[in-house]
Amino acid sequence: MKKIITILFVAVLLAANSGQSNAQELDKTAGKPFVELFENVAPATMADNVFKLVGEDFMLITSGTEADFNTMTAGWGGWGVLFNTPATWCVLRANRYTLEYIRNTKTYTLTFFEDEYNDQVLHFGMASGRNSDKMKTHRLTAVTTPLGNIAYKEASLIVECEIIQLTTVQPDDFYTDEAKAFIKEGYADAKEYHKLVFGKITNVWRKK
Ligand SMILES: Cc1cc2nc3c(=O)[nH]c(=O)nc-3n(C[C@H](O)[C@H](O)[C@H](O)COP(=O)(O)O)c2cc1C
Repeated sequence: MKKIITILFVAVLLAANSGQSNAQELDKTAGKPFVELFENVAPATMADNVFKLVGEDFMLITSGTEADFNTMTAGWGGWGVLFNTPATWCVLRANRYTLEYIRNTKTYTLTFFEDEYNDQVLHFGMASGRNSDKMKTHRLTAVTTPLGNIAYKEASLIVECEIIQLTTVQPDDFYTDEAKAFIKEGYADAKEYHKLVFGKITNVWRKK
């Protein structure tokens, strides 16, 4: 009987250890420096379909420092050329906590993911980091870019930006009923009009 118990005990230990080594093997990128995970590419080579990437798959906007950062989901935005510079734009309701980080650091990243991370992308849009634990309960891995911006290791595309202009929309400047309704709704919620954020692209990184 004692022998059987000993054999069972050893079998359980072996099973537990093999589980551990499998888990370690799964993350082949653990500990790798940022530049070994991502390749720096020129903004002009971005041939991605921005309507799908931003409008259908959604993106994460992250701002802050290694010690303190915040992330939100966004479905409005894009990129192009502004004042001769490759630039991005996004539209944020005035009460987004992420805006406070963007104002403080003057930088932010846009990150894009393959479909397998859909639930994680949506996770950051379900609650505000101001009054929830969303920054502790996600399953992504934060990484710091060589410029010191925060992004996520699981991203397939990272766009680093530096604010060019952060401005408040004016209701009289809108001409379509749809846009007017969005702006009105945003004001009713935040008691302040939406913010337009234009950012100079400082780096584009693609997963290697
Ligand atoms: C799919 C999706 C797209 C969103 N797009 C935007 C957007 O473009 N602009 C915006 O201000 N909020 C957008 N949101 C809402 C924010 O992600 C949400 O309010 C979030 O909690 C804000 O987080 P924060 O307060 O921590 O910054 C979106 C949410 C989802 C789920």
